[in-house]
Amino acid sequence: MRIIREIEELKTAREALEGSVGFVPTMGALHQGHLSLIRKAKSENDHLIVSVFVNPTQFLPGEDLEAYPRREEADCRICEVAGVDILFMPEISSVYREDEVTLKAPAYLGYILEGNRRPGHFDGVVRVVMKLFGLTRPTSAYFGKKDAQQLRIIEKMVEDLFLPVRIVPVDTVREEDGLALSSRNVYLGEEERRRALSIARSLKRASRLVMAGELESETIKAQMHEIMKEIEVEYVEIVDRDFRPLQRVEIHNTIILVAARVGKTRLIDNLWL
Ligand code: PAJ
Repeated sequence: MRIIREIEELKTAREALEGSVGFVPTMGALHQGHLSLIRKAKSENDHLIVSVFVNPTQFLPGEDLEAYPRREEADCRICEVAGVDILFMPEISSVYREDEVTLKAPAYLGYILEGNRRPGHFDGVVRVVMKLFGLTRPTSAYFGKKDAQQLRIIEKMVEDLFLPVRIVPVDTVREEDGLALSSRNVYLGEEERRRALSIARSLKRASRLVMAGELESETIKAQMHEIMKEIEVEYVEIVDRDFRPLQRVEIHNTIILVAARVGKTRLIDNLWL
């Protein structure tokens, strides 16, 4: 595995690759969720590039940019074992320049739900992902369904800018008890972790309700709120694949989204129906 930190070195290394290139962008502190993307990318491509870059432009002032877990050594080992060909770990100063051309997230999709709570967050995400796509020129790029809105925005970026990249969605990996894996889970104390489980439980309840024929969004949301009483729910929304709110669940076209704070930690999770 090659660890590359310089832009020019990556460009040269990319030029030498023939055949398909799979790309997995991450912010590091790699866990089984990231690994699931990496494994899928490995199995579907001739070459595999992973990036680890804690992207400052997607953090809002006051968010956890400084505290965000950094585990460079462990990340290197994990990537090595997983058969990654190139691990790209650039410095902030080589990724961003002065007075640059920027991209913005869509006005609707980029500013509702997560984008409403974290205005500008998705602008930072599209900015960095576009740069990373330009550098790695992937055949396919892999994104987790855990970050459903991010995935949809990246799909839309590829559609709207006619980019020659296939976006591959990957299912959410969970702990045995249901908690969706996240780099931010390390912030949770024992008691907080217990309360955080109510997020996954509420989604399970939603799934059971739908299977039992309950399709009314308000009814489902009310029951989910009931289960998450011990945490600070930011939103529970039932939307279609374009993130338009649905009054009734439409099978195969519905995502139920939750964002909540447990202590100081902000967590998101969702269910695709
Ligand atoms: P990060 O949070 O590190 O996530 C990297 C990728 O892993 C994302 O596509 C995310 O959806 C996926 N992922 C995270 N937890 C997962 C889980 N439990 N199961 C499956 N996939 C999971 O998302 C980002 O970084 C950044 O916004 C990035 C796209 C790298 C741009 O900076």
